This record gives sequence, structure tokens and C-alpha cells, in this order.
Amino acid sequence: MRKQIAAANWKMNLTYQQAIALLQTIIAADITLKENHSVVFAVPFPYLEKAIGTVQHRKNFLISAQNCSDRKSGAFTGEVSTEMLKSIEVNFCLVGHSERREYFGENNLMLADKLNLCLVNGITPIFCCGEALGTREQNQQNSYVERQLRESLFHLTREEILKVVIAYEPIWAIGTGKTASTAQAQEMHAFIRSALKNQYDAAIADQISILYGGSVKAANAKEIFGSKDVDGGLVGGASLNATEFIEIIKALK
Ligand code: 13P
Repeated sequence: MRKQIAAANWKMNLTYQQAIALLQTIIAADITLKENHSVVFAVPFPYLEKAIGTVQHRKNFLISAQNCSDRKSGAFTGEVSTEMLKSIEVNFCLVGHSERREYFGENNLMLADKLNLCLVNGITPIFCCGEALGTREQNQQNSYVERQLRESLFHLTREEILKVVIAYEPIWAIGTGKTASTAQAQEMHAFIRSALKNQYDAAIADQISILYGGSVKAANAKEIFGSKDVDGGLVGGASLNATEFIEIIKALK
């Protein structure tokens, strides 16, 4: 069965003390993961190493960076390379979150470079895609997302694409309290899987985890994750609350 993942994206929230306390509360909770379940925390850079140490004894609890540089190394002040992430044993990295695209000018081609660097360094990229409200209102969401996949992902080999996790996050549902309906999420996830099938093949498409992101909370996680092509979630706001996020983890199928 495909990997089912509950991923927290803390974004630029929490002090170090708050962050580690939150992590400790969650890993101390009575949560039984199935073999194919993973829980991933995308934490701010300065907390990565401590977070890795904190979850180390808990099987299938893993740590992610929220971003990485599209350059290998060198004179790029303030950037963090995938090689640096690898050297402290970071397992995952978010790539192309819509906030990175919108506020920091990240485009599909840069993201292809980031994906390549993650894969070279053994880091699983969680590639984020999704359309803005205007695109959906014009019913252009499929071609928009297909282009994001084509320009950032579809140069990857069959072996490489199997190492990628995809997160569909409709921008109009992020932080708005408005989730995509179960039908809208399932429809887009099935579309992404069919695009993977067309580019690669059915066996590959069937193995890739596709997470949903956008106002996931304890109250709606079970319903959203229940859809056939939804393999868990990438959670912002609700992941900052231990009780909420524990319930979200428990909603994995
Ligand atoms: P919210 O869960 O706060 O809507 O954020 C979703 C998100 O951007 C996760 O990456």
C-alpha cells in the first residue's frame, strides 16, 4: 500500500522552546502508526538538528526542512543547501510551497533544480503544487497543475520520481478555513495520478503518495484522507496545536 503521511508545516511560527515542547507532546502521545504511516514535521532551519534528535527514537516520525537552495554551494548569503541538510540527516524537504512561489519568486524551473539537488543528496522532496482561486474560477486548474508537474518534475527518471512525494495545496484553501470539498480534492488527486501515469506508467503512478493541503484540521481530516487518491495531508495552522495534530495523525487510513 502507498505511504500515508501526516505532515506538519510549521511555517515561520513558534520559538525554539515552543517548538520542541510541541514536538515532545506529540511524540509522547498514544499514537499507533501502521507500517505504511509516516509523520513528518517541516520545521524552521534553526530547529532541524534538535528536532531530529527529539524524534529519533520514534519509528516513522521524521523531520523535514521547509525549503532549500536551488544552488549547490557557494556565495549565496543566507541560503541553505541540500548538502547541508544531508549532513545533519534531514529526511525530507518541502519544495515549491505556494508561499515560496508567491513571496519569494520561485518558479517551476528553479524548483526542478531544487528537486534534483534533493534527490542527489538522498532527501525526499515534498513537491507542492496547486492553483489560485482565479484559475479555479476559470476552470483551468488541471492544465495549471499539469504544467507545474511537467516543468518541475517530469524530467525525472522512473527511479527518481518514485522518491518524490506530491502535495496538492489549492492556494484558495491555505489558511482561509476553506477546504476543497472531498470531491474537489479527490478529482485533482486522480488527475495528478493520471498525469503521472501518462508520463511514466500505471505502476509508478500507483506508488506515489499525493498529500492534500489547505485548512486540514481534526474535524475534517478523516473525510479528506478517506478519498481513494488522497494519501494524507500537509497541515499548516492545525499542526501548531498538539491535540489537533494528534487527531490528524490518527485520521490516516
Ligand atoms: P493551512 O493548513 O494553515 O491552511 O496551511 C496549509 C499549508 O500551507 C501547508 O503547507
